[in-house]
Amino acid sequence: MIDVRNIKKSYGQQEALKGISFSIKQGEFYSLLGPNGAGKTTTISIMSSILKPDSGKVFIDGHNIYDKPFDTKKS
Ligand SMILES: Nc1ncnc2c1ncn2[C@@H]1O[C@H](COP(=O)(O)OP(=O)(O)OP(=O)(O)O)[C@@H](O)[C@H]1O
Ligand SMILES: [Mg+2]
Repeated sequence: MIDVRNIKKSYGQQEALKGISFSIKQGEFYSLLGPNGAGKTTTISIMSSILKPDSGKVFIDGHNIYDKPFDTKKS
């Protein structure tokens, strides 16, 4: 289960994510669709811990990926 909670991210003055939240259950297919510049790559980068959000949280199987990156990757 992936739980994205109120993620915000700006690049300087450019507000890329204004607070995105969604949940994906195990076995579920989920499409992240949007026009150019909507924030898809930023969202995926944060979910895979390549980028840090300015605020908000991402949980994977109940682990906060920033507080417990090793627990997350082990599970
Ligand atoms: N490294 C960066 N520096 C500054 N602004 C950025 C950076 N990366 C993305 N942005 C800006 O953040 C916003 C979201 O961009 P992002 O690349 O996440 O969107 P996207 O949905 O993946 O777009 P595309 O469909 O073109 O791939 C856009 O306004 C973009 O210009
Ligand atoms: Mg992109």
